[in-house]
Amino acid sequence: MNESFHRGLRLQGMTSFDDLVAQFWILGAIGRLADQDLLHRAADPDDEMSALSQQLLIDTGWLLTDPVRPSAGLLAAPPPGVPTSALSGYVREQIARIGRFAAGSPPGWNEHDRDRIRWRGRASGLIAQGIIERCCPDVLQRATGFLDVGTGAAGIAVRLCRASPGLRAVGLEISPAALDVARIDVAEAGLADRIEIRDQSVAELTDVEAYDLAWLPQQFIPRGELLEALPRVLRSLRPDGALVMALATEDDLPNLVSGGGTLPAAEAVELLEQAGFHTISVHDMTVVGRR
Ligand SMILES: C[S@@+](CC[C@H](N)C(=O)[O-])C[C@H]1O[C@@H](n2cnc3c(N)ncnc32)[C@H](O)[C@@H]1O
Repeated sequence: MNESFHRGLRLQGMTSFDDLVAQFWILGAIGRLADQDLLHRAADPDDEMSALSQQLLIDTGWLLTDPVRPSAGLLAAPPPGVPTSALSGYVREQIARIGRFAAGSPPGWNEHDRDRIRWRGRASGLIAQGIIERCCPDVLQRATGFLDVGTGAAGIAVRLCRASPGLRAVGLEISPAALDVARIDVAEAGLADRIEIRDQSVAELTDVEAYDLAWLPQQFIPRGELLEALPRVLRSLRPDGALVMALATEDDLPNLVSGGGTLPAAEAVELLEQAGFHTISVHDMTVVGRR
């Protein structure tokens, strides 16, 4: 057995299972250090836990030295638009998801921790704003009504409403924990008069010609509900309104666990056509359809 010992962690253990567990300690060290802003500067040598965590990341190539800084691999690790300093939330979210999966939880987002719901909200706001700006800047510019499906902590609605003073939003959500966080955070953001948080599945949407722009993340919406939802979302759009549907295009386990499973872009285009959308376009992992 080829064992190598580092000050931070016995990286290659007695069994390959030890090696697997070591990956979690590396992930944990990234999260812990990000939270203390220690991915960009050396830890105080008296802070043994941080110093050892940094050593572990240096040994495994995630940190560079002289001065301490993230490697190119670490810089590329966060979801697009999310800074390295925010990696802590991402790490905690992923470890919690894997924990729920290992405990046998059914498919679905199933996040109940308020801090992690809030973290996802901030990350989603950044990610979705970038996607919408790239996919349909014209609609975003003139929009006065926005539908945020699976609003979570209302991160996207809050971000877009802050950017566009004339915009009002409705956030649909089915998770009691997320609904609670969203209502508190919208009120704290001073946007309660412009953002309505609704305890409603998108499969039960009945609004007619109420929105210019709708955001729907397919990866979290079970297929049956998505099929029911698409004609309803179309009906909820004003003439020339647009649906931006983020897709999980890769067939993998995390996508299945998220609740919506995989939807390749070509199939997404077909679903939008069947629902009656037109001028359908594909942008990376997003499909846009207009009313
Ligand atoms: C990853 S979270 C979205 C995060 C959110 N964009 C934010 O800014 O916080 C996905 C959400 O979709 C919700 N969801 C799942 N199925 C839904 C449905 N049929 N209708 C509305 N929301 C749904 C889940 O409860 C979950 O909170």
